[in-house]
Amino acid sequence: MKVLVTGGAGYIGSHTTVELIGAGHEVVIVDNLVNADMTCVEGACRICGADIPFEQADCCDAGAMDALFEKYRFDAVIHFAALKAVGESVSKPLEYYRNNLDSLMTVLETMRRHGTPNIVFSSSCTVYGQADRLPVTEQTPRREGSSPYGKSKQMCENILSDTIAAYGDLTAIALRYFNPIGAHPSALIGELPRGTPNNLLPFITQTAAGIREQLSIFGDDYDTPDGTNLRDYIDVVDLAQAHVAALERMFGGRSSEPFEVFNVGTGRAVSVLELVRRFEIVNGVKLNYRIVGRRAGDIVAVWADTARANRELGWTAQRSLDDTLASAWRWEKAVRGM
Ligand code: NAD
Ligand code: UD1
Repeated sequence: MKVLVTGGAGYIGSHTTVELIGAGHEVVIVDNLVNADMTCVEGACRICGADIPFEQADCCDAGAMDALFEKYRFDAVIHFAALKAVGESVSKPLEYYRNNLDSLMTVLETMRRHGTPNIVFSSSCTVYGQADRLPVTEQTPRREGSSPYGKSKQMCENILSDTIAAYGDLTAIALRYFNPIGAHPSALIGELPRGTPNNLLPFITQTAAGIREQLSIFGDDYDTPDGTNLRDYIDVVDLAQAHVAALERMFGGRSSEPFEVFNVGTGRAVSVLELVRRFEIVNGVKLNYRIVGRRAGDIVAVWADTARANRELGWTAQRSLDDTLASAWRWEKAVRGM
């Protein structure tokens, strides 16, 4: 099938492109490069031994999207394109709402005009906030997002749900990612954060590489076994494969509802300290870290109940945390020429 991957020059989109091509699909990438360069597109081309079509355009540009859909006639869209920095979204809410909502709505309108029936959307476990009961299932009530970024993901899920209910011509799957980490085993593609990383693993790898002096661990006085936050860290290749499974469910007409939601995690809770220690052991490096105060807005713990994705998508996270931490370090070293 022919698949448009929006935001395909980015971290998760480039890994998904590789898995789609590996599964026999044709991919066209569209990206405006607001948060990427061509490194991962070129890396994906090398991994696949293919010249993957790349179009530089903004998904909010209806004219550009029309031209793209006219040129390629897609069977499906995987919509990754969004701005994703939680802190920045607090200081630039209009940019985040404009980009994240407008890009989805423009893509949906274009799909309807061109008769493209299937979309997979990048959602996030951020829609759950701090749940009362863990692990979270897809039925766990969503909590009001704590940032414009989080709220934009909730709004996008609502836009999808309302659009699909109103018109009978679309099928959608929203995947709620937990914490994606790691890189392709080839070390040809991976996460390329701009400036100081916000997320834990890029901060760890940059500290190990000597780019950052010290890792700050945000709080060890939470009500968890070692006092640090618990998260569900999922390997980015496993996550990419969940997109292939979701698409193939739609292509096979196996969706039980026109709009479905799936948690994509491992089902395993890992603490910040545990992640840091595993990283040191697996990669044989020493990390300079210290415990500092809590970070505003952090939730104590969240991890996924993945039963629905396991059962309905026939998908389960395969990679071990150790392999994932090794891939993250290999990628950092490749980027730094180490
Ligand atoms: P990323 O920034 O690496 O990739 C997003 C890509 O979209 C970038 O290459 C960027 O240039 C592009 N883009 C943004 N706005 C665009 C627009 N209007 N038109 C065209 N291209 C545009 O981010 P990622 O980590 O790969 O995330 C992909 C998706 O997954 C995002 O929707 C993100 O919100 C979601 N998500 C990410 C995480 C995570 O931890 N990385 C967790 C949950 C959900
Ligand atoms: C954050 C976002 C979430 C988003 C996700 C993926 C918030 C509140 N949530 O989740 O909406 O979907 O990123 O982009 O920002 N940590 C440290 N030191 C660091 C960095 C992180 O101790 O330098 C800790 C954090 O306190 C947290 C854990 O590491 O406990 C993971 O943090 P992070 O990678 O930023 O992801 P989340 O906060 O889970």
